[in-house]
Amino acid sequence: MKRRDFLKSAAATGVFASGMFPHVWFKDGSLARAADGEIKVGVLFSLTGTTAIIEESLNKATILAIEEINDAGGVNGMKIVPVIEDPASDPATFAEKARKLVLSDKCVSVFGSYTSASRKAVLPVFEKRNNLYWYPTLYEGRECSKNVIYTGAVPNQQQDDFVPWLAEKFGNRWYLIGSNYIYPKEENNYCKKLLDGLGVEVVAEEYVPLGHSEFSSVINKLRAEKPNVIFSTVVGDSVVALHRQYHAAGLDPETMPMASLTTSENEVAAMGAAAAAGHFTSAPYFMVWDSPENQKFVEAYLARWGADKVTHFVSEPAYFQVYLFKQAVEKLAASDIDPNTIREAVKGEEMIAPQGKVLIESENLHTWLWPKIGQCKSDGQFEILKQSADWLEPVPYSAYAGQVCTADGLTEA
Ligand code: ACM
Repeated sequence: MKRRDFLKSAAATGVFASGMFPHVWFKDGSLARAADGEIKVGVLFSLTGTTAIIEESLNKATILAIEEINDAGGVNGMKIVPVIEDPASDPATFAEKARKLVLSDKCVSVFGSYTSASRKAVLPVFEKRNNLYWYPTLYEGRECSKNVIYTGAVPNQQQDDFVPWLAEKFGNRWYLIGSNYIYPKEENNYCKKLLDGLGVEVVAEEYVPLGHSEFSSVINKLRAEKPNVIFSTVVGDSVVALHRQYHAAGLDPETMPMASLTTSENEVAAMGAAAAAGHFTSAPYFMVWDSPENQKFVEAYLARWGADKVTHFVSEPAYFQVYLFKQAVEKLAASDIDPNTIREAVKGEEMIAPQGKVLIESENLHTWLWPKIGQCKSDGQFEILKQSADWLEPVPYSAYAGQVCTADGLTEA
């Protein structure tokens, strides 16, 4: 029996409740489910506050995909109905809005979050209610939840190619700078492991508060230390401030480039291309990527939201994950659409995304992606200097030898 038919017939015959299949859940009367020809989903990205600079574009990419799907007839004839909330870049507000979307609005899934701080804040809501959170952002890994579908890159997918390439090209004295929360610290843990093997010296590891905008003491230290590479995991408005102050100080990307995991076309547009030109970013997607699927995405995005807008490596997964949601829901009978059945149906699902073919790994609900290295040019777009030879498996515990995220949860190898 094909997997698709199995899911339908298993739901119909009650096999889900038999205990035969440990990863398939009981049909639970308390779960949110689709009803009245509508599939309600939450859209939880900040439209105000320090990370609105990027999250507002994630809202737009999500809405675009929902509109496209509805315009093409919906999902098995049912419309996707978005319930949009603004969590205002505040983790406590994220948790409050997530509770509303899951408990009051009874959404069967929620698309949301940029920062890991906000994802961590909503996680208990989704785990307690057995709902499903679709998270499009690059993040630090070290998480293994059956209630999150992770479509952004984990550290091995951004760093494995990037870090050795930078060390060889620029040298072995690195300055690590990040915003002060879990994501930059965990990314740097992995980076330092890679640097150890390459004989690179970390001359400083510094964290600034979220929203930090005054980098003069950092600039002074950069002048004094003269590192070969500034490895940056600052996020939100701070990306703009750091680049502008670096540029105003007359520092030179040719001898002291910033190598970022978080600087996309979006932040570049906000800071002005002059401040970004010459610096490097590693990501699975850049707006200039040449594929029919990307051309369609970029054209649709600009037509819907304005010719001055950009697409980038977080808005692309925010867009394609809605299509993966659609593919999963299409496999289900209307009466069976709930967070559990959606999760089971999305395992192993693949599609041709704007960046290339992507796939949801059944074991850990993370995504196979295509790492690339880009250098920002004076027009604000990136030139893609390198792409991995093949798509790359997500390894969410790459910094933690022996720990593996499986469908049974975290195991020690
Ligand atoms: C992030 O906080 N995952 C960028």
